[in-house]
Amino acid sequence: MGGITLLCRVGYSVTLHEREGRGVQERIVDEVAAALREAKSVVVLTGAGVSAESGIPTFRDAMEGLWEKFDPMELATPEAFDKHPRVVARWYDERRLQCASCKPNPGHAALAEMERRLTGKGGRFTLLTQNVDGLHQAAGSANVAELHGSIWRWRCLRCGLTREERGGAFDRYPPRCECGGWKRPAIVWFGEGLPEEALAASERALRSCDLFFSVGTSAVVQPSASFIHVARSRGAKTVEVNREPTPITRLVDWSIRGKSGEVLPALVARTWGGAEGGT
Ligand code: APR
Repeated sequence: MGGITLLCRVGYSVTLHEREGRGVQERIVDEVAAALREAKSVVVLTGAGVSAESGIPTFRDAMEGLWEKFDPMELATPEAFDKHPRVVARWYDERRLQCASCKPNPGHAALAEMERRLTGKGGRFTLLTQNVDGLHQAAGSANVAELHGSIWRWRCLRCGLTREERGGAFDRYPPRCECGGWKRPAIVWFGEGLPEEALAASERALRSCDLFFSVGTSAVVQPSASFIHVARSRGAKTVEVNREPTPITRLVDWSIRGKSGEVLPALVARTWGGAEGGT
């Protein structure tokens, strides 16, 4: 899977065919809970929707205030940084500061609990995230592969030094390294390659997974959008948790419509009898 770049496919159409209605959704949660109890190796792919309830806007949400006239999809490219380094660095710094003020929500906590439960009985759990906010780790998730890098790490374009940046706003944009070079966020922009390590971890996890979740992602950005196909081709059962239909809704074994911060805690409770206790 090496050398894979970030690609976006937009303008999909969805034919609604999901099983709707409260009773039906309850039954689906029961079925997924039973699958989770049986699972030996679980992979969860997450996207911006998981952090939405922590107050971090998704990429497709409208931009506010000063940034109203910008399209985040257009800022997230190396070309945008080449052309407007100050604007792009400032936008990412504002997102970094915004992340600093946000806390994990019950969806993040439920995924951390899911990992503890599964690994506690000798199973495997891998979290593949497209998010750069670090909230999964903050919630206690341990086996996390950051497919799109991290907004907390900034890399010097001249000497390559990469550092955690947990302090306040940078004093200039783009921020400067000690060597004098410009620093950029160590995140993956459209057209750039994904980190080899994260891709290798994804490949390893998908190869053996028997249950795959796609949570809070629009499932249009490659290569992550293709993970479900890999999981299915290896015989895994598949689940989607999303507020809205996506291009994979028709494909999954179970589609749970709702907020991840509500659905995931309910699922964990249904599976193991409550977030804190019971079996
Ligand atoms: N619970 C569950 N799903 C939600 C919630 C919620 N509370 N809020 C929003 N969603 C869903 C939306 O319905 C949408 O399908 O989350 C998805 C967010 O989609 P995107 O904004 O496209 O985010 P994502 O799929 O992570 O985008 C992938 O694209 O912009 C690039 O690199 C960036 O990592 C990002 C990648």
